[in-house]
Amino acid sequence: MQSKAQLEDLIAKVREALDAAVPATTPPLLVKVAPDLTDDDIKDIADIAKGPMVDGLIATNTTIDRPDNLKSIFKAETGGLSGQPLMAPSTKILSDLYSASGGTVPLIGVGGIASGADAYAKIRAGASLVQLYSAMVYEGPALPGRICRDLAKLLKRDGFTSVKEAVGADHR
Ligand SMILES: Cc1cc2nc3c(=O)[nH]c(=O)nc-3n(C[C@H](O)[C@H](O)[C@H](O)COP(=O)(O)O)c2cc1C
Repeated sequence: MQSKAQLEDLIAKVREALDAAVPATTPPLLVKVAPDLTDDDIKDIADIAKGPMVDGLIATNTTIDRPDNLKSIFKAETGGLSGQPLMAPSTKILSDLYSASGGTVPLIGVGGIASGADAYAKIRAGASLVQLYSAMVYEGPALPGRICRDLAKLLKRDGFTSVKEAVGADHR
């Protein structure tokens, strides 16, 4: 689904369906990508996202990869791997998409976030917004508040007065 021709075709049809379903407004269309992408895939996706039909990218979904350092007895199960082992590879894809799009496409960072430092790393890599899922299972509903407080401290430490100022900071 992430090859250029297929993705362009899919997005065109989704855009058409969206516009027909809600003609009075223009809902943003965000494309969520896998972390298991080649450099060519990243270039193709960034090219499409720079065009008029896509409003932003969500990087990333779960991975089909199995890093060597997994300890769980379930590590050989098929399916998508999420959480901490996904943080580094997912942030790398996010960063590569930021570079490939010249920082012009809104990016949502997701994959392995469990702390303010993780959220900050995604923002510095190019995310304007972050999401998390797996860490809620381990840390519970107090986690988002803790992340916001820790993120605010990290931004202040580095002299940023807003999240916006820090977006893509690692590329400058
Ligand atoms: C049980 C489970 C179900 C998921 N279902 C979806 C889904 O339906 N659609 C989707 O885009 N992503 C889905 N995801 C992926 C998450 O939204 C997220 O991209 C991924 O888990 C990485 O973030 P995390 O490390 O914070 O969990 C699912 C993840 C998990 C663990």
